[in-house]
Amino acid sequence: MRTFAELHLHIEGTLEPELVVALAERNGIRLPEPDAARLRELNRFTSLPDFLARYTANQDVLRTEQDFTDLADAYLARARASGVVRAEIFCDLQAHLARGIAAETVLNGLGAALSRSEADHGVSTGLIITFLRDQPVEQAEDAYVLALASGVDLLGVGLCSAEIGFPAAPFVPLFARARADGLQTVAHAGEEGGPEVVWEALRQLRVGRIDHGVHAADDPELVAHLAESGIPLTMCPLSNRALQVVPDLSRHPLPGLLAAGVRVTVNSDDPAYFGGYLDANLAAITDACGLTDADLDALARNSIEASFLPAAEKLRLTGTAAQA
Ligand code: ADE
Ligand code: ZN
Repeated sequence: MRTFAELHLHIEGTLEPELVVALAERNGIRLPEPDAARLRELNRFTSLPDFLARYTANQDVLRTEQDFTDLADAYLARARASGVVRAEIFCDLQAHLARGIAAETVLNGLGAALSRSEADHGVSTGLIITFLRDQPVEQAEDAYVLALASGVDLLGVGLCSAEIGFPAAPFVPLFARARADGLQTVAHAGEEGGPEVVWEALRQLRVGRIDHGVHAADDPELVAHLAESGIPLTMCPLSNRALQVVPDLSRHPLPGLLAAGVRVTVNSDDPAYFGGYLDANLAAITDACGLTDADLDALARNSIEASFLPAAEKLRLTGTAAQA
């Protein structure tokens, strides 16, 4: 089995309907829709904002450290079964703070699962705090300060949520500060927005990876820049189909970008909402675009190389990543 690093995964996006129902029961919360099968049926979206509304509403059931530990443990077990040996996991800490959950509850809860993950699941992990670009930057700054103060092992910071109408500029000082603190930086760009949003993330935020980057393919100069610089794109085929970013997967830009020498990777984004984990994403894009074994080997190798692991660890993992 090929092994992969998963580099674009929102832990809140792994909240399966069955876990929504179980956590609601455990925490004494009355759900508007208490049936897991019916909740799953509601996971049909027309756009990113449409999805974000449901994704945010479901997070209400996450209340205790144990809830966050259980959420992460369930993801890590499922991810390992789909070939993941390294997971660099996003957490929307800011969203949890906004609904009155303490930073320690979120970070100690996730930290408990992540720190045991190598032993428990065979998956090494890193934690990336994602800021919400459609919310005031002061909220993001507060979340950053609390994350640092918590003492949790932080790998980096990222930027996500709605893209259109929310420029990156207000986040420039915060990203510079995170970099000065020794953290890695990533940003969602080119999912809703065009190539200019990807340029903005590269030039203003100076990120080390672009999350999605679907519309980077519309700008040949940007494609050449990505290929030359080696800046990876963390693409998510089932998410793109579910959110109508690329309604027909046979037209997904991934194969063209791969052929152009861009370091593209495959990831699951919010697997509980979009129809599957890493294995399902790989199967869907392979079927739709006719990817070859050599393409899949390249995607496996790219994922390890695009991770923020130390060079020696990347070398060790790429030795096994491309094995069928
Ligand atoms: N937050 C969770 N999933 C997201 C996505 N696909 N795009 C932007 N923000 C997100
Ligand atoms: Zn995402």
